[in-house]
Amino acid sequence: MGKSEYNWAPGETPPLINDHSLAKHEVLDRYLRTYVEVLTTRPVIDKFRLTLVDGFAGGGCYTTERGGLHLGSPLQMIHAIRDAEAAANAARNKNFAIEADFFFIEKRRQNIEVLEATLRIDPTAIAYEKQGRIHVLRGSFEDRVAEIVAQVETKGRAGRAIFLLDQYGYTNVPLATLRDIMARLPRAEFLLTFATDWLID
Ligand SMILES: C[S@@+](CC[C@H](N)C(=O)[O-])C[C@H]1O[C@@H](n2cnc3c(N)ncnc32)[C@H](O)[C@@H]1O
Repeated sequence: MGKSEYNWAPGETPPLINDHSLAKHEVLDRYLRTYVEVLTTRPVIDKFRLTLVDGFAGGGCYTTERGGLHLGSPLQMIHAIRDAEAAANAARNKNFAIEADFFFIEKRRQNIEVLEATLRIDPTAIAYEKQGRIHVLRGSFEDRVAEIVAQVETKGRAGRAIFLLDQYGYTNVPLATLRDIMARLPRAEFLLTFATDWLID
């Protein structure tokens, strides 16, 4: 399915979300919750570190058909990790914590401004922000990813990372970049979207 491009502008109504993006957020949410669930089945694990990267972050919010607000992928990630941590704690006696760091990369300045404004009013994002765990990076994924990989490497080989790469088309994430990340972060996982009309073309 092809994707129309979303644009955000401070002070303006966020773009109308399409069904494709709604479905994608559902998959993202379920994937992150399941990821944590699987890793926490062993009760001896009382914490783990996780880096979440949204390489094409967007403005962080949308308008729904009914005129409501729907959160974008950065906030979906933040909420999924909060909920997964709470679910893991509910299922065990010993306290469990996810030491999560979030990196949101976005190229377009206005989109970044709207994303930051959305993060500033979300209670869960505010709590992570207070712990210095949210990093909004302006620029292209290609240019900014190396510094994130370097930071994950400092956490040691156990450093787990999940990359959401929600690009338009299939031109912004060169396979060589993916290979490089995989070689340096053996435990990294990728959620990669691409427009099928681009593939057919
Ligand atoms: C499909 S939208 C992101 C939607 C977002 N992931 C969500 O689900 O809410 C793609 C975003 O990537 C940004 N973008 C385009 N090329 C980029 C690049 N090379 N690096 C980082 N961001 C880019 C666009 O400005 C746009 O905001």
